[in-house]
Formats: sequence, C-alpha cells, structure tokens
Amino acid sequence: MAKPLHPFLPELQHDDVARLDFVKSLRRFLSTRVLPGNAKVYEQRVIPRFRATHGREPATRDEIRAEMVREPYYQLWSALQRRSQEMLWEAAIEPIQRELPELIKKANAAVNRPDRRGSLRLNPDLPLPAYNTEMDIHIQPGGYHHEWANDDIAAGAIYEIGVGMYMPDAWGAEGDYLGQLAVANFRRAWPDRKPRRILDMGCTIGSSTTAWARAFPEAEVHGIDVGAPVLRYAHVRSEALGVPIHFSQQNAEATEFEPGSFDLVVSQILIHETSLRAMPRIFAESRRLLAPGGLMIHMDIPRGANPFKQFMHDWESYNNNEGFARFMTGLDLEAVAVEGGWQKDELSVERVIPNYDKSQMAYGDEYPYTVLIGNR
Ligand SMILES: C[S@@+](CC[C@H](N)C(=O)[O-])C[C@H]1O[C@@H](n2cnc3c(N)ncnc32)[C@H](O)[C@@H]1O
Repeated sequence: MAKPLHPFLPELQHDDVARLDFVKSLRRFLSTRVLPGNAKVYEQRVIPRFRATHGREPATRDEIRAEMVREPYYQLWSALQRRSQEMLWEAAIEPIQRELPELIKKANAAVNRPDRRGSLRLNPDLPLPAYNTEMDIHIQPGGYHHEWANDDIAAGAIYEIGVGMYMPDAWGAEGDYLGQLAVANFRRAWPDRKPRRILDMGCTIGSSTTAWARAFPEAEVHGIDVGAPVLRYAHVRSEALGVPIHFSQQNAEATEFEPGSFDLVVSQILIHETSLRAMPRIFAESRRLLAPGGLMIHMDIPRGANPFKQFMHDWESYNNNEGFARFMTGLDLEAVAVEGGWQKDELSVERVIPNYDKSQMAYGDEYPYTVLIGNR
C-alpha cells in the first residue's frame, strides 16, 4: 500500500483502497456517462414542454429546476450523485475510525513538540456561526467542527481523504492545487510583490495555506478557521510537511488581529459556505486587517455560464448541504464588498480557470473560479 502523505492519515488496507477506488470510479462514471443525459432531457423534453405552456424557453435556473426535478432521468442521476457523496465519506471514515485513538495520540505528541516552527491557538469559547454548525456541509458527517473524542482530529482527516475524492487526482499530491492556482494568479498579476504577512481565512486543514507558505517562505503565514478539530489537524499536518504556519481558531467576520496586521488577506472557497450577513463583515474585516497598499483576494466557486448550468451547480445547495452557495453565486461581490466599507475603485472581480480534467467535474463543466480582489 502507498505510504500516507503524513503520519496523521491512516494506513490504508486492501479493503479501504477497494472502497475508495469504487467510489472514485462511480463518480467518474456518473460525471462522464450519466450526467450528460440531463442536458438532453432538458433540450428534448423540458424546453418543448415549457415552450408549449409559456410560449418561451425557461429563463432562470429556478424555472429550469421546477421542471427538471419532475424528470425521472434527473431524479436517477441526482439520487446516484447523492449516494456517491455519502459513500465517499463512508469510505474515508472507515480507516480513520479504525486508527483514531492512535492518530490522536500521535497528533497530541506533535502539538507539543518543542521544535515546531508554526503554532496552534484554539479558543474553546469562540461562538461558532450557525451557518457552519447547523448542517454538515457537503454532508461530511459531523462537519468541520464536531469532536467525537478529546483532542479530536478526525474531521480534518475525513476532510482530507473525502475531498481528495471529490475530483480524484485533481487536487495534486499534497491536495494544494487550489492554493497553487491562487498563488499562480497572484504572481501573474503582481510579479514583484513579496507579501511579508499573509492571512488565509477559512483554511480548514491548511492545504491552500501551505501553498502560500511554500511560495513565500520569508513571509509569516497565518491560517484561521472556526473548526477546532480541522485546525488541530492542519497544525500537525503542516509541521509534518515542514511548512511553518500559525493556526488559530477565529471567526473571519471579527478576528483578534490588530488593524493593518497583514499585507495579503486571502481565502479559497470560504465565502460560499458563509451567509448574506457574514459576507460584508468578512470583507470589512479583511479591509481592517490590511496595511495600506495591502491586497484582499477571495477566490470562490463559479456561477455556471448559463441558466441550465447554474441550475446544475445548484444541486450542491439542494442536495449536498451547501445551502448558501446558490445565493452567493448570484451576488454582485463588488457591491457586497462596498457594503463592507470598500471603495468601488479599489475592487475588481476576475475569473480563474483551473486545468481540471473535465471528466472529473460533477457538472462536466469548465470551472472558472470567481476572484474578488480588493487593493487597499
Ligand atoms: C471549503 S472549506 C475551505 C477550504 C480551504 N480554504 C482550502 O483551500 O482547502 C471552508 C472552511 O471555512 C471555514 N469557515 C466558515 N465560516 C468561517 C468563518 N466565519 N470564519 C473562519 N472560518 C470559517 C469552515 O469551517 C471550513 O473549514
């Protein structure tokens, strides 16, 4: 069996690998062989039916949804996609559950190592935002914050294995492709900038934070999240990978950092998991934390290029506990940032296209991330 990336992942046995491989191939089969049929159903059944009643084609994702959910083919794909998501977590959890006491013991020893270069600061009194706790996002059992044992790290390990199967092979050997994409985009736009203090908001297990820290080894890099078990895991993981990062349990809406503490504030796929109320607060907090001349870069999921694709992306909100995603993707991000105190002329929105293998995408789509940039 292949050796795990670091000591806080379980050793996979034959049956674990077989289960994980099955889920991967099921998801690939769904995205390449079953999903495309939805577009045909839409074109050949839904549009003509809608036209016959309304004298026009459906114009919005909600109009399309109202029709498509009645279609047996869509129902079949949706049920299989949902089941594959459940199986993804089941396959990830099995080996972690088996080794959890040992993994926690190893993590506790690593947290206390005197030679660690980064740090971990948890705040058990931090109120957790309801949007983070009221549902298990992506239906990951227990979500980002649940603790089954003292000093638990299971949520982090489950996330690392499970998310790795969302789009198998797309995330890179260290699961940091998204961070690398953000770094490459930053370097393209600002080739001469060398940020000295970087904050990554909503860092989860620090996969993208690690990419920023590796790209700018002279910088002091911080990662914050509201989930304690994912941060514990992030800390021992990044130490094992030899990347010094300072992790702390804080809410991105209102942190404890001093004003002007950073010259770069970033997030990768945080915003769509927050709320309408939280978003302007997070943008305002980013602004407060930036020194003059500093940059805010929030990169998040795309909207879908037309109403049919938007409807398909909305599957995540209706069936995968990504409740806010369908609202967030319809928002004018610059207007929300202005609400958070930014000046219109300090802001821009860009699209960044990853080189994902399209056969791995649940929606068979190009996946241009949306990037909100604030230049203080
Ligand atoms: C999809 S994950 C982000 C993935 C990560 N940035 C990466 O690139 O791998 C979203 C994370 O944001 C965290 N989060 C949500 N709301 C937050 C808030 N208000 N403050 C800090 N973290 C938050 C969640 O706990 C979760 O770990």
